[in-house]
Amino acid sequence: MYVCLCNGVSEANIKRLVDEGHHTMREIQKKCKAGNDCGQCLFELKRVVDETCSKCDEDDAKHA
Ligand code: FES
Repeated sequence: MYVCLCNGVSEANIKRLVDEGHHTMREIQKKCKAGNDCGQCLFELKRVVDETCSKCDEDDAKHA
């Protein structure tokens, strides 16, 4: 399922970036460009990042 239609970024793309060690919204947006155009996907993008990160060992306080 696509999270960011403007940039063609899927939920799987975001989960993969988190798995590769990118744990902040800023890092994710820089890597895949999600949320950098209309911004309508930002809420859903944050949900996917938070949900995926809660399953890893990283400190949740890092999420910005
Ligand atoms: S849907 Fe993500 S920037 Fe427009």
